[in-house]
Amino acid sequence: MIDYQGILNNIYQTVILEKDKGEIATYIPELANVDKNAFGIHLHLISGETFSVGDSEKKFSIQSISKVLSLALAMSKVGSDIWNRLDVEPSGNPFNHLSLLELEEGIPRNPLINSGAIVIADVLVSVLDNPKEDFLNFVRDLTGDSSIDYDLKVAYSEKITGYRNYAAANLLKSFNNLENEVDDVLDFYFHQCSLNMTCAQLTKAFFVFANKGKCLLEKTRLTKSQAKRISAIMLTCGFYDEAGEFAFEVGLPGKSGVGGGIVALLPNEFVISVWAPGLNERGNSKLGMQALEQFTTETNQSIF
Ligand code: DON
Repeated sequence: MIDYQGILNNIYQTVILEKDKGEIATYIPELANVDKNAFGIHLHLISGETFSVGDSEKKFSIQSISKVLSLALAMSKVGSDIWNRLDVEPSGNPFNHLSLLELEEGIPRNPLINSGAIVIADVLVSVLDNPKEDFLNFVRDLTGDSSIDYDLKVAYSEKITGYRNYAAANLLKSFNNLENEVDDVLDFYFHQCSLNMTCAQLTKAFFVFANKGKCLLEKTRLTKSQAKRISAIMLTCGFYDEAGEFAFEVGLPGKSGVGGGIVALLPNEFVISVWAPGLNERGNSKLGMQALEQFTTETNQSIF
């Protein structure tokens, strides 16, 4: 038997002593108002047991972590047709990089960089009756938790400062890889990224990927193959130009966000989320990565 609670407690004791906690993201002004000392972990085993430490019940902005959920909804609605519009290769570049998009004629490298997630947002704006409401209901349904909501201040804050995302969306439009108007697609995208969730809620939302497509309430939301493919994309693309480092250090598929959250999973075993708002220079949670490295080392559990 693994002493999960003991291991989470050890991790907590280690990280609170770290002097360098990384830097809070400030390019979305509203994200700057977060306590740099916040730290939480939640672990949800597929068998149903849960363990936590620290601020695991505090809500934070999930940002890019939402890209996995929007991809899941798009794949469940449209199937493999989405792959005509974007690729599944790691980009080796920052999440908001633009020149590769120009070079590759408007086909984003993968759905987890901003340009790829904007294409997925476009798919959802086309196929959903009420995109923002339907996406929110999808996430609430995955978790069985109707308290999950958008943070409208964060969405607005990004809308008025999101110049690089406007640039990416305009470039996609110029290559005919956006069906809807730039403003409509980005309005959806900024709301999607503004979802406010706790570590505990995130592990519930990602249960579907670790559980062969069945969500926490045992409803089938994805095919086994879709759950497998989305996990593979997390492993190769979930941390942008640090995807190799995350696989090397942690050895799990996962996804980060500039709000300081990371969710990672071991198929058929567990989902784990960490929140530590300070980021490293690649835009991933500094202590979050460190905590997950310690977790997979001490539990001896990873996909490798
Ligand atoms: O589009 C953006 O820049 C943000 N809404 C999300 C970026 C993000 O979370 C990158 N993740 N590490």
